Amino acid sequence: MCGIVGYIGDKNALPILLDGLKRLEYRGYDSAGVAIVGDDLRVIKTAGRIANLEERLKSETLIGTLGVAHTRWATHGIPNDNNAHPHFSESKNIVVIHNGIIENYLEIKKMLIHEGRTFRTETDTEVIAYLIEEFYEGDLLKAVKKATEILEGSYAIAVLSKDEKDRFVAVRKDSPLIAGVGDGENFIASDIPAVLPYTKDIIIFENGDIVDVRRDRIDIYDKNLNSIKRTVQRIDWKIEDAQKSGFKHFMLKEIFEEPKVIREAMRGRIKNGEIEVPEIMLDSEYLKGISQVYFVACGTAYHAGVYGKYLAEKYLRIPAQAEVASEFRYRNPVIDGRTLVFIISQSGETTDTLAALRFAKEHGAKTIGIVNVVGSSVAREVNKVIYIHAGPEIAVASTKAYVAQVEVIALTIFYLAKLIGKLPKVQEDLIVKELMSLEDKAKSIIERSSEISDFVSTVKNIEETFYIGRNMDFALSLEGALKLKEISYVHAEGYPAGELKHGPLALVTPNSLVIAISTFTPLRDKTLSNIKEVKARRGKVLAVAREGYENMNEVADRVFYVPKVMDDLSPIITVIPLQLIAYYMAESRGLDIDKPRNLAKSVTVE
Ligand code: G6P
Repeated sequence: MCGIVGYIGDKNALPILLDGLKRLEYRGYDSAGVAIVGDDLRVIKTAGRIANLEERLKSETLIGTLGVAHTRWATHGIPNDNNAHPHFSESKNIVVIHNGIIENYLEIKKMLIHEGRTFRTETDTEVIAYLIEEFYEGDLLKAVKKATEILEGSYAIAVLSKDEKDRFVAVRKDSPLIAGVGDGENFIASDIPAVLPYTKDIIIFENGDIVDVRRDRIDIYDKNLNSIKRTVQRIDWKIEDAQKSGFKHFMLKEIFEEPKVIREAMRGRIKNGEIEVPEIMLDSEYLKGISQVYFVACGTAYHAGVYGKYLAEKYLRIPAQAEVASEFRYRNPVIDGRTLVFIISQSGETTDTLAALRFAKEHGAKTIGIVNVVGSSVAREVNKVIYIHAGPEIAVASTKAYVAQVEVIALTIFYLAKLIGKLPKVQEDLIVKELMSLEDKAKSIIERSSEISDFVSTVKNIEETFYIGRNMDFALSLEGALKLKEISYVHAEGYPAGELKHGPLALVTPNSLVIAISTFTPLRDKTLSNIKEVKARRGKVLAVAREGYENMNEVADRVFYVPKVMDDLSPIITVIPLQLIAYYMAESRGLDIDKPRNLAKSVTVE
């Protein structure tokens, strides 16, 4: 979704702002723009990629040490030059950039039109600039504060005034916003990678913060303009974490990082051969009284939750469900103080997920967040947060975060099972041994990635794919299909293998590809029969099966064997070939893998 960058200092702002925007490209966008205060307040913006903006800027001179820049993911009004941010106020003395949605923008717009104002765009954002201008009496901070009293919805905004060349003002409400604290210069951005080359001292703003950014200080206020303090955190990310480092795409780099991610997610959580997730610290009486468990999330994180459902049911013997956040929050589910809700989110900022979390809390449930981005909204609002430590994930399609989410869910469920006396020590010993072997097994899969690219080259013109599996393999088939759809634009469906004959089989022809996942031992012969049903209709089959299950060779056209690992942990490594299939398919089609059309990394609208 939209990306925001702001700079004030002693350097020329334009290159810093453009560099920051490029580091936020992963958020997904369809137009870009920049505003610089120099002798005058200038705005240049264009539809399309940042490269288009740079092309347009070649014929302009934009010099100044204060500016803001924006990448827009269209919500109100089509993606064109006019609707791109920054947006001017009517007099063109003030500009605004915005991430989020102003829910009462139509009312405000009507009111201002009634007062004789004329608008230039179809966006909701423009009303913010106009409203601030209404209140402006020489102090931008005061005008912004008054405007925010009227605005409803979600917004991270940054505002510049032509008449105040020594400051800009920013506000956070339900959309992410951080500051980078420099020496004689300061930055704001939607996310940390934007400022990483310049500073590692970061402030993560809270909802309602109004921020006055000067060259040498950042003053933070609450909604009544009372001064407040926020801690400056020193982050230990390396700039390489947010760079491609020789890989053709971030997605491939992030898949190749998975062995390391597997190790990091376990760090501090296996001590002296015992599983421990100290972050949970829930009272044991409460734990024993839990009557149901929910996993609530969106997209890939939801698929990690589907895995969690199978695992929780098996080890906790408590009813468990996985549900997409946008359904959960509007369904009026039966939840109470005995319900434990896992909220899974890479970014920690997904609007539906955040709303589902608030809904669960309001209904008395306890919430545990499985989150990647430290200090994000989900992380701050859940009762307990467990970080997955996957490092920055830049590609829009989530890969390494899924691996870490699934692993952390597993560790947490095993730990909870232990706490309620349902995981005998012998079983724990076996699980720990298997967990410790995962990093090397993941490495061995990655070393064989050419097997996947060779296979994909034989099916690259395929138009229809089905991913099938049973039990946890079904959870994986959902994720495999999502990956393929997201980046290669090939139609893909994830289906329970046993359901294929109840509909999708009608679509299977020699031009269909079925990817059959078969690592769940108790049901692998059943999946084998389903593959035979596909072969009888002359569909192509790639099986992703556990090493040693040689029967697969006899029925599938090709088999990719994953190393032996216990069934319950298999998804952590079996997802890797599925991610690689999607990657190589998109690559063979020459697509924009890290920034697929119409999608965004962080979805901050409903
Ligand atoms: C978007 C992203 C997906 C992600 C989903 C949930 O759709 O493109 O990759 O899985 O949001 O995001 P979250 O940050 O909450 O995990």
